[in-house]
Amino acid sequence: MNIKFSERLLSRLAAADAVVAFTGAGVSAESGVPTFRGTDGIWAKFKPEELANVDAFMRNPALVWEWYAARKKIIAAITPNAGHYALVQLERLFSSFAVITQNIDNLHRRAGSSRVYELHGNIERNYCMKCGVDYSNADILSMTEVPVCSRCGGLVRPDVVWFGELLPEEEWNHSVRAVESADVMLSIGTSSVVHPAAGLPILAKHSGAFLVEINPERTLLTENVDEFLKGTSAVILPLLLEQLVALEKQDHLAREKTKKS
Ligand code: OAD
Repeated sequence: MNIKFSERLLSRLAAADAVVAFTGAGVSAESGVPTFRGTDGIWAKFKPEELANVDAFMRNPALVWEWYAARKKIIAAITPNAGHYALVQLERLFSSFAVITQNIDNLHRRAGSSRVYELHGNIERNYCMKCGVDYSNADILSMTEVPVCSRCGGLVRPDVVWFGELLPEEEWNHSVRAVESADVMLSIGTSSVVHPAAGLPILAKHSGAFLVEINPERTLLTENVDEFLKGTSAVILPLLLEQLVALEKQDHLAREKTKKS
């Protein structure tokens, strides 16, 4: 595919010191993880009120664990895609680059992104609700019953943020700081409906960032962005990376020529 990005977008990126990529389920779609919304989305088949909130868990931990154990297995078997890897390469072009993700699948870290803030937790982690001790997936998935803490007998739950729960404070504070100082913010593969995370692109724009959205569909955010790049993240991000690197090379050659003449 050949997409020529606008001069405006490329020059804003070329001049940027600080860039933030804000990601949602769409970034993992091409790795085989279904998104949440839409006709084939997870929430079209399952009810979040039965699976993704603490009351549902306390009512029926076995049902919630059955669902999370299945999701953990699916996610452990998939791999990052070209979009995740392009974000790792992009990181090297800027003095500051952060990935803020709503995804719990750990694919950004597995791809190699070094500064990742996870706003909705991480499905590879679990903790005891009573004493807080951490459990790995290997500890949990070998259990045949609902996992309980070997130290205190408390219920062990996945370390993911459920509906009605607060976001992890430290990750949120780091994210807000990164967003407020971003020159360019890329909002990628998110429907922009779940707050407070969905407020971050608007915060970036109000703080002076150039706001770019990458998505095959328009979203609630689209009318606020400076550039809408219609397409999937595994296609658009590698192309963007390629054109930025080409631009850098041209600039470098031009500087070398001026030095010689
Ligand atoms: P959604 O399922 O709401 O939205 C996914 C977005 O990705 C949609 O806008 C799609 O158009 C877009 N999309 C689909 N395929 C894509 C692709 N290949 N490349 C790029 N974009 C693509 O997922 P999120 O916005 O991440 O919360 O949902 C936010 C939160 O709602 C999730 O973190 C989760 C969920 O309930 C919790 O679990 C707390």
